[in-house]
Amino acid sequence: MLTLPDMQYRRAINPDPTAFADVFLKSFTASEGAEEGEFVSALAADLIKTTPKNDIAAFSAHEGDLCVGVVIFTRLYFPQTSRIVFLLSPMAVLPNHQGQGVGQGLIAYALSQLVGDIVVTYGDPAFYGKTGFAAIDPVVLPAPYPLSQPQGWIAQSLTKAPILPLEGPATCAPALQNPAYW
Ligand SMILES: CC(C)(COP(=O)(O)OP(=O)(O)OC[C@H]1O[C@@H](n2cnc3c(N)ncnc32)[C@H](O)[C@@H]1OP(=O)(O)O)[C@@H](O)C(=O)NCCC(=O)NCCS
Repeated sequence: MLTLPDMQYRRAINPDPTAFADVFLKSFTASEGAEEGEFVSALAADLIKTTPKNDIAAFSAHEGDLCVGVVIFTRLYFPQTSRIVFLLSPMAVLPNHQGQGVGQGLIAYALSQLVGDIVVTYGDPAFYGKTGFAAIDPVVLPAPYPLSQPQGWIAQSLTKAPILPLEGPATCAPALQNPAYW
């Protein structure tokens, strides 16, 4: 991974929905098209506005005054455990800053700041595998809804403890409570 001496990583205590949405809009419009850009940016703003404050953690990467990368974590709750599980979703880096290590640096920073037991995401193992995520069976770590692409369900322990099976169903943040997203 490249080292980026001018990049600053921050936790956003009161994330600005508009500023975060703007990075998602630019990034996903460039990579997936205008409709997906609108969808993900609206979802990110909704997550920031509607998730209880204790259940969300948002981080950003900055080059000078420019916010170049963003990532949002929200809590997943399981009925019979006190283990703290975070879902990483979504994340984005501005198009002309991609491929320079910003995404990996932002995840590494966020994981160093998060206090919890497990972090899971639903994405491309080719990218997230570079930051410690590995495939996990939804039987071991149940998702909130049936997964259309279970191979994209990937997790890592935030502690030295291995990930032991959790009983579902998991409950996610209100903004993600739509089976079509999964
Ligand atoms: C995915 C994303 C966040 C990665 O951030 P980034 O700053 O470009 O990533 P980094 O530079 O830290 O890491 C790049 C590495 O990951 C790989 N990678 C990056 N994006 C990838 C993707 N979508 N799929 C597979 N691999 C990817 C690259 O091949 C590269 O590998 P290398 O280090 O061996 O060359 C960014 O490309 C992005 O915003 N993409 C569009 C939106 C998106 O897909 N978000 C993630 C889903 S929520």
